[in-house]
Amino acid sequence: MTHPALTDGPIYLDHNATTPIDPRVIDAALPYLTHHFGNPSSSHAYAAKPRAAVAEARRQVADLIGATPGEIVFTGGGSEADTLAIRGAALAARDHGDQVITQVTEHPAVLEACRSLTAEGFTVTQLPVDEFGRVDPADLRAAITDNTVLVSVMTANGETGTLQPVPELAAIAHRHGALMHTDAAQVAGKAPLDVTELGVDLLTVVGHKMYAPKGVGALYVRTGTSIVPIIHGASQEQGLRAGTESVALIVALGAAAAIATTDLPSSANRLASTRDTLHRELDRLLPGAVQLNGHPVDRLPNTLNVSLAGADGKALLAATPHVAAATGSACHEGLDIPSAVLIAMGLVHDRASAALRLTVGRWTTPEEAKEAARLLADTYLTKFQASA
Ligand SMILES: Cc1ncc(COP(=O)(O)O)c(C=O)c1O
Repeated sequence: MTHPALTDGPIYLDHNATTPIDPRVIDAALPYLTHHFGNPSSSHAYAAKPRAAVAEARRQVADLIGATPGEIVFTGGGSEADTLAIRGAALAARDHGDQVITQVTEHPAVLEACRSLTAEGFTVTQLPVDEFGRVDPADLRAAITDNTVLVSVMTANGETGTLQPVPELAAIAHRHGALMHTDAAQVAGKAPLDVTELGVDLLTVVGHKMYAPKGVGALYVRTGTSIVPIIHGASQEQGLRAGTESVALIVALGAAAAIATTDLPSSANRLASTRDTLHRELDRLLPGAVQLNGHPVDRLPNTLNVSLAGADGKALLAATPHVAAATGSACHEGLDIPSAVLIAMGLVHDRASAALRLTVGRWTTPEEAKEAARLLADTYLTKFQASA
């Protein structure tokens, strides 16, 4: 099976930036654009199908993460879900404390939402990471105080795939009476996720990282967790996110979640196997030149971040037009500075500049992985080997 959007173009190895929409997701969502246009809040017949579809999607997203439907708040994407979690939780707890703790390699959606709270008198502490990109729970223990209202640490990093020790961090947060948020944008749909096992109060899910469209996401809000809305208006989404529901996008997110739930964990094994084929081929073609960035084991199954010694990652990709991949987070691209994530992990400038982020997805075949390795290796040997 191949995806219609991927048949004629370069080999797509940028699934952590965004994913093509699964055709089954489009099939599920389309009737809510063509026919079932009603407002779910209306009291006449046109509301029935949209209302039922939103309820079904809520159940599907809840199932993906081990939550109950009443704990799911649909949002207009990941940045909004992160902002709702962070500003919503911190401002709701304003009377109990004024410190928020996060860590350096978070997505800008988290870092900037935290930073915005300084205008309301909050202090923001950014924990460091080790050479694999992991937060040391001892650093959280040292930084947390009884004034801490929220800890926000991502489930996995989109550049390196490194998984954070979220259950341990959540336990520390709770011992100090703080809430725990995790941005699971890069994990949802790729690896099993369970809010109870993670021990989190708030968790972000993003549609366009899991074969649903852009502009839709969800925030898990554990029952009993107090947050205030950031978008004010009518009482949709239990008063936590005003605005007439974007029914088709919500249905799409639900369908994507249902497909992911059915496919996991075998899809995770398949992704890891394709990712490892890519890594092995690069190693075979460029012996001694390939350095893995991120944690070798505790890592997203689809993510390979490697530095090719002496290369410039951006120039290497530009000279390999048949492979579509990234060097750092796609959100920062256009800026000619090495990835802040890799620098925060202590990588020297040259190694960070040499990094390639290669992320496989639902339709990536082992043959494509091998072909991409060959194309990248050819460019490297032609353009960069002399400087290695
Ligand atoms: C970890 C993470 N969080 C949040 C976001 C933001 O999601 P959105 O683009 O839907 O606002 C992204 C997307 O790049 C992400 O990778």
